[in-house]
Amino acid sequence: MRRLRRTPAFRRLVAEARLSVDDLVAPLFVREGITEAQPISSLPGVVQHTRESLRKEVAHLAGVGVPAVILFGVPATKDAEGSQAWAPDGIVQLALGDLRGEVGDSMVLMADLCLDEYTDHGHCGVLRPDGDVDNDATIALYARAALAQAAAGADVVAPSGMMDGQVAAIRAALDGHGFDDTVILAYAAKYASALYGPFRDAVDVTIAGGGDRKGYQQDWHNRREALAEVALDVAEGADMVMVKPALAYLDVIADVRAAVDVPVAAYHVSGEYAMVKAAAERGWIDGPAVAVEHVTAIKRAGADVILTYFARELAEGLLGG
Ligand code: PBG
Repeated sequence: MRRLRRTPAFRRLVAEARLSVDDLVAPLFVREGITEAQPISSLPGVVQHTRESLRKEVAHLAGVGVPAVILFGVPATKDAEGSQAWAPDGIVQLALGDLRGEVGDSMVLMADLCLDEYTDHGHCGVLRPDGDVDNDATIALYARAALAQAAAGADVVAPSGMMDGQVAAIRAALDGHGFDDTVILAYAAKYASALYGPFRDAVDVTIAGGGDRKGYQQDWHNRREALAEVALDVAEGADMVMVKPALAYLDVIADVRAAVDVPVAAYHVSGEYAMVKAAAERGWIDGPAVAVEHVTAIKRAGADVILTYFARELAEGLLGG
């Protein structure tokens, strides 16, 4: 076996999985009411952007060849329903308009579609009197948010709330309002993971009463269940499906890749990024080398599209090394 491993040229020639900048989506945060970008301590190198700094970052990403970004909003005010998620002047809608003007069709603009960044209780939907998330009332609000995002210029809406029937509700609303071209990237197999911690710092979300999302996101003991979720989303009209998180779920990515023919995305989430950064900061691992190894593993498992906070660093040079 060693003959084909002898030189870098041989290894390049026979490499099975090749990570390309074309595979990457950069997750970006935009916050209302700030005048300067704010660092996020648990996500070194990632910031909460102003509209202006976001515009510059996206122009830079376009310049280094990253084909897509996904936006998350941090509103100045939150309420029980999360109304800033569909307000025409909500922060993500304004940012989408800015970016559409900045990059035209040269980049794919995605918008995360959920309510947790916008609700004062931090859940991904509206609450019933008993405190549980009301599935059907919530998907009606997702449909409103999808229309607002599409009208503002999103190419792709990405529902991440794990409500039943969310993809069908969003597809029907989009088609009913002339947004036939708007793509749905469904967070189809999204697990109730402890790896989202730094993300919740990034969007200033605390779930009220120390609650969790285990009543709607998937239980990480389950593998086959992911295929049931994916099949439902594809049947409801998802154009692409996502597995999230990525590294602890490579088995799920491989299963999903084998089961469907639509593009499969994987989200290399905040905790996965933060662990690499923290260990590298202590000198315990070679951060850039681990970053390339991790993200390539996600590709090797079967992901066509990879959302990662390393997108910029990878595009700026890591992939050449
Ligand atoms: C929900 C959403 C979350 C993430 C992406 N979309 C948080 C959650 O489900 O609690 C997490 C992403 C990450 O950790 O990088 N809007």
